[in-house]
Amino acid sequence: MCGIVGIVGKGPATPRLVDGLLRLEYRGYDSAGVATLVDGHIERRRAEGRIRNLEALLLEQPLAGSTGIGHTRWATHGAPNENNAHPHATEKVAVVHNGIIENFAELKAELVAKGRKFATDTDTEVVAHLLTVLILEGLSPEAAMAAAMHRLHGAFALAVIVAGRPDLLLAARRGSPLAIGYGEGEMYVGSDALALAPLTKMISYLDDGDWAVLTTDGAQVYDQNDKKVAREVRETVLSGALVGKGNFQHFMQKEIFEQPAVIGDTLRSYVNPATHRVTLPELPADLATLKRVQLVACGTSFYAASVARYWIEQLARLPCDVEIASEFRYRDPVLEEGGLSMFVSQSGETIDTLSALRFARGRGQKIAAIVNVPESSMAREADALLATHAGPEIGVASTKAFTTQLAVLAAFAFAAARARGTQSPERLATLAQAIAGIPEKVSGVLAADDRIRAAAKIVAPARDVLYLGRGTAFPIAMEGALKLKEISYIHAEGYAAGEMKHGPIALIAPDVPVIVLAPNDEWFEKTASNVQEVRARGGQVVLFSDKAGIAKIGNLAVAAIELPSCDPFVAPILYSVPVQLLAYYVALIKGTDIDKPRNLAKSVTVE
Ligand code: F6R
Repeated sequence: MCGIVGIVGKGPATPRLVDGLLRLEYRGYDSAGVATLVDGHIERRRAEGRIRNLEALLLEQPLAGSTGIGHTRWATHGAPNENNAHPHATEKVAVVHNGIIENFAELKAELVAKGRKFATDTDTEVVAHLLTVLILEGLSPEAAMAAAMHRLHGAFALAVIVAGRPDLLLAARRGSPLAIGYGEGEMYVGSDALALAPLTKMISYLDDGDWAVLTTDGAQVYDQNDKKVAREVRETVLSGALVGKGNFQHFMQKEIFEQPAVIGDTLRSYVNPATHRVTLPELPADLATLKRVQLVACGTSFYAASVARYWIEQLARLPCDVEIASEFRYRDPVLEEGGLSMFVSQSGETIDTLSALRFARGRGQKIAAIVNVPESSMAREADALLATHAGPEIGVASTKAFTTQLAVLAAFAFAAARARGTQSPERLATLAQAIAGIPEKVSGVLAADDRIRAAAKIVAPARDVLYLGRGTAFPIAMEGALKLKEISYIHAEGYAAGEMKHGPIALIAPDVPVIVLAPNDEWFEKTASNVQEVRARGGQVVLFSDKAGIAKIGNLAVAAIELPSCDPFVAPILYSVPVQLLAYYVALIKGTDIDKPRNLAKSVTVE
């Protein structure tokens, strides 16, 4: 993953590089560093851990220079310590890198044989040495960059400064995203437009395989065949303002509480509040005659897609496959020519999902993307964009992006059902009503905040936790378990409640809390039997249900938390919220770094 930023400019570079890095910290926070040219020489400052450690170092040891590069790291090759922190430098160049150089071992052996001495365990250092050797062999830095691009395998974005050339910044992109920013007498590169937003609104995006030469006057972009090309420069809508936490203790908490508002914002794009009519943007497929749809995603977005499969098949009788993106293309799936593949992603940059999108396009699929970041690679590459309007999600554990994805997918399932004539006008009217009413119901769920906080005390001491649900509550059980794992570091598993007796029931013990999601839907009675089975074995049940459900089985639970009753269709959206809050309050008790949990990054741009 990692975030990179670069400036070839006229003013002091370091504070602006650090500001750019702060906007990219969602991409990784294992270490951070900057390098600039001071009197033509490369100077670096690097620190393990958060960017604030780098800021502290820069206070003690400031770094001058108007041309420089910066990096915030999510470690792939080499431990996350200062020595492995980027930029990596030689006497000639300094390099920052996002991605993986897959043939680094082979290149390293070749460069070591040429007498180059390596100082780190990273794959990136080969880029610095490769460029250095090429320059020492007599190539100009620009020609060295062109030659290096033909030697490097893998997915990467690079920014490079060259000793003695304060007028020059080199950049390259293969796989990992890279934006170029156009300033006045200055030029910038960044992993995304957000990093550059305070510097400029004028942005272009490198295409895959492009590399670029930036000077204070502008940029010349070359494609993968080293042909000069022009990439469209556009005005970004992103704001330079950093998002704040308001009165909340953590971004995650703020984002959980924003859900009624952002689900409302998202639904307003798809559902007319007066008529309850659902309108989607023009899709590259006719929903009435479509034979099959694939939903492809990772992590939390995959669980949103998994809920949608129930909706799409039950409501619209449209066959639907749900795929984990990192498996999808390597499975060599059979895809019908002209079929519809939909990719679900908060960031729109997750490399597994983006690669799956490109794979599907190569197999003749029409592409729709459900994405939160409107200028992301997936949003740009899709035939149709179904935007979520969650706003910037800063907490690494996804919350509001998930429920807004569900809102869009609910609208999609509804539109498919209407187009295919699979539901009566009366049922469609009730469904539309239920969809339009989600924000208010979610506000009702948030009112249970105190009771969920109290239930967190039951879960916090556990080493293992089980989440159970049936039907659309099953993916929510998996999502709940993922949230708990991510931010509290407690081992948790989400199971289909009916699957428990096939193995996981062996885990039931008084010290393994069992979180049961039991909306009053067609599966309720069966889930209730599973709760009996847990109790019969001494398991401690934390139950989420509505008034009627709690009246029936609340006595079996150590904590029974009442949620608003609702149409079962929208229940998975409502039941997402208490599992987010439960994970949040457990993590609060455990004192973890909730917004930036260990080992994770917000945007995963490596395979
Ligand atoms: C979990 C989480 C991740 C992401 C996954 C995909 O809280 O956020 O599991 O859902 O990395 O990311 P996007 O949705 O950006 O493609």
